[in-house]
Amino acid sequence: MKNANEVITLKSDSEGPRIKENMQDINVLANTSILIEGNRIAAIGPLAQVEAEFPYLIAEAKVIDAEGKVVMPGLVDCHTHLVHGGTREQEFMMRLNGATYMEIMNAGGGIHATTKQTRDASFEELYRKTSRHLDTFLKYGVTTVEAKSGYGLDWETEKKQLEVARKLHETHAIDIVSTFMGAHAVPRDYKGREDEFVDVIIRDMLPKVAELHLAEFNDVFCEKGVFTPVQSRRILEAGKALGLMPKIHADEIEPYKGAELAAEVGSISAEHLLVASDAGIRKMAAARTIAVLLPGTAFFLRAPFARGRLMIDEGVPVAIATDFNPGSSPTMSLPFMMNLACMHMGMTLEEVLVATTINAAYAINRGDQLGSLEVGKQADVLMLDVENYKQLQYFYGMNHTNTVIKNGRVVVRNSFLI
Ligand code: NIG
Ligand code: FE
Repeated sequence: MKNANEVITLKSDSEGPRIKENMQDINVLANTSILIEGNRIAAIGPLAQVEAEFPYLIAEAKVIDAEGKVVMPGLVDCHTHLVHGGTREQEFMMRLNGATYMEIMNAGGGIHATTKQTRDASFEELYRKTSRHLDTFLKYGVTTVEAKSGYGLDWETEKKQLEVARKLHETHAIDIVSTFMGAHAVPRDYKGREDEFVDVIIRDMLPKVAELHLAEFNDVFCEKGVFTPVQSRRILEAGKALGLMPKIHADEIEPYKGAELAAEVGSISAEHLLVASDAGIRKMAAARTIAVLLPGTAFFLRAPFARGRLMIDEGVPVAIATDFNPGSSPTMSLPFMMNLACMHMGMTLEEVLVATTINAAYAINRGDQLGSLEVGKQADVLMLDVENYKQLQYFYGMNHTNTVIKNGRVVVRNSFLI
């Protein structure tokens, strides 16, 4: 790939997820070519230098001309509820007429409605629906997606969701990293017996997830009226003992000391954090817990945005994701999330690039393979129809993705899937 206006490599000297001023460090290069061999990046540098170093590879290389375009790593969407049955536009209408998200959920809608639709859907139906969604993600430049279960709330359906994700990881161009989220809601028939459901998760579900290698992470919705911090801690610790890394839906709707809990249990990330406390943010900074912020959820629920600016200033590594799900964030556009983070969280153009590439890769434990253009890393590369990276947010609400190379293979060309 040669002639790009700008190559944004996201390479930096700092180790681990980027914090503070390192979140500005995107490394913009002119006159830079990228040589890909197989599914890895073999060289990055001035064309003459790459040619001199790898004459045998260059002789056979297929050349992609990126003239007038910006080149950057594939986007990593590190928080989605990818596999689910149905849609909930009816609830969206109710919310436009004044109902709240929690009211709808407590009346049997919300997560419960999607749970029913996911239980009712066959493996093939879920597979086909999710595959279409992945096509859309890819067209928007997303090359890796984290996928949470949590619309089964019984073992059979949780397993079905995770198996759909696993099969799509094998068959679809996009890579999928799975999270078990059996603790997404308390099933209706366990109302008043919440601790019993926590026992079911710990005793019956988590060991099977680990044994069948169905997920790498274990997530819980720690929220008033869903799982308490005490119950959440039990579930996360039980997963840890089985090798599942903790993640946590923390402080999304009401402050509940979720950020504090994430830091205390050594969670790789705390997610949402719309109403996280100052103390919680400081604790996350000290523990280097990654904040996965989901501005689409605040936008769509008309809730206050997470305090991204403060978190970065306090030293929390910040990532941004879509939270793609049928209730609180039905979008597959990570670029739009980047725009919202600039406009409503006080983040800079550079910070949102870091937050959706290298920091997002670290949030799913893939920082060593994804998220930056560096020799040896996976060849997930985007070519964008803008003259410079500043135009990515300036021309807002549009898809600038022209070409997507996934694992060394062109999968989107001229904005069309191939
Ligand atoms: O991340 N917070 C809980 N879960 C999702 C919403 C799920 C749904 O509404 O279906 C979220 O916002
Ligand atoms: Fe979520």
